[in-house]
Amino acid sequence: TGYFTLDPGFSSTGACMSTMTYIDGDKGELLYRGYPIEILAKYSSYIEVCYLFIYGHLPSQKELQSFEETMVSEMMINEKLIEFYKGFASDSHPMAIMVGVVGALSAFMHKDFDVNDPRDREYIAIKLVAKMPTLAAYAYRTALGLPIVYPNKKYSFIENFLYMMFSTPMNDFNVDKVIVKALDTIFMLHADHEQNASTSTVRIAGSSLANPFACIAAGITALWGPYHGGANEAVLNMLKEIGNKENIPKYLQMAKSKDNSFRLMGFGHRVYKNYDPRAKVMQEMCYNVLEKTKRANDILELAIQLEQTALKDDYFIQRKLYPNVDFYTGIVYEALSIPTSMFTVMFAVQRSIGWICQWMEMMSEKVQRISRPRQLYVGEDQRQYIPIQDRK
Ligand code: CMC
Repeated sequence: TGYFTLDPGFSSTGACMSTMTYIDGDKGELLYRGYPIEILAKYSSYIEVCYLFIYGHLPSQKELQSFEETMVSEMMINEKLIEFYKGFASDSHPMAIMVGVVGALSAFMHKDFDVNDPRDREYIAIKLVAKMPTLAAYAYRTALGLPIVYPNKKYSFIENFLYMMFSTPMNDFNVDKVIVKALDTIFMLHADHEQNASTSTVRIAGSSLANPFACIAAGITALWGPYHGGANEAVLNMLKEIGNKENIPKYLQMAKSKDNSFRLMGFGHRVYKNYDPRAKVMQEMCYNVLEKTKRANDILELAIQLEQTALKDDYFIQRKLYPNVDFYTGIVYEALSIPTSMFTVMFAVQRSIGWICQWMEMMSEKVQRISRPRQLYVGEDQRQYIPIQDRK
């Protein structure tokens, strides 16, 4: 019934129009609402990027200040939600917890907005993005058995995340400008990336007019796997497994071999057939952070050596496989003492602005159509039904 094209993995299917993010995969270019990512990373902040995505333009100084105040004031979560954390198994992966608690936001926020009202959609976006760092920090704290820390209005949005993660009643929390800037930049780099698996999932779930917070939980699920957001965790585990430069050829050989499913984590991208511009920013940042935290940079040197060897290898050259953003993020997170299991949670926190603004964009369209891909049926032709007593 009707003509359609079979496109596994949607490599060549455009599913929507968007004014948010532009990628030129051949040139390695990324723009948020027309602004190059390198410029934003250098001169802007995550909060500015959130404003840019929600309202369509960069804020004035006054708008920025009031927006950040609103965001910080919305970082608190309903106290009842804290009960959820107590119910999870102690060894739960924090992404499992995030799927649950973010989905549970839909049980707390469902009556006081109308998804058809543009102002209410802005309100939903602010609520979601502001609460994500708190939900993530609580996942980390409760897993360790540490008391949770409430957000505090004397800190900025990014500082609050560090504060909720790392302060205890027994230590003095110090804001380190280099660390805050590094984290803020990583947040910006991950804010949106057009129709990737998790964003498409949010749009698909949202196209049924489901509660937006539940749609974000669906996005978190899609992000979790190692081919998508889980890559940052997988890269660090892989680098540790490789261990030293002498082992690089062995692992490259494994990645090239089709006998097993091993892939070089943090390499390759569906859209970039050139260097991922975010990876360039990340590589530079690695040096600054490692210098500041006085961490040994053995793992960074190993990563650079692995990258250089792979980029000279015909297998990677022919397939245009370059490092992506997550090749370097894990190294920075580790230097910031963020545990490996939290890496993908960090990605979810950072991408929440992209997800919710894509949802807003979809909801603002005049005609809303439910997402409904087709399939090519390759099963049995019609068969004769045999009653159970007659079957062999
Ligand atoms: N290592 C080894 N071979 C690879 C890799 C890799 N990382 N990535 C792709 N290939 C090969 C693949 O086996 C295939 O080879 P052949 O043509 O001989 O069959 C060819 O390159 C094309 O790959 P593909 O599977 O068609 O590419 P895709 O667009 O479907 O997949 C990807 C994109 C990102 C899932 C994939 O490159 C990959 O698995 N990379 C490692 C995981 C990773 O770093 N993911 C993070 C992506 S960036 C952050 C984000 O957006 O989430």
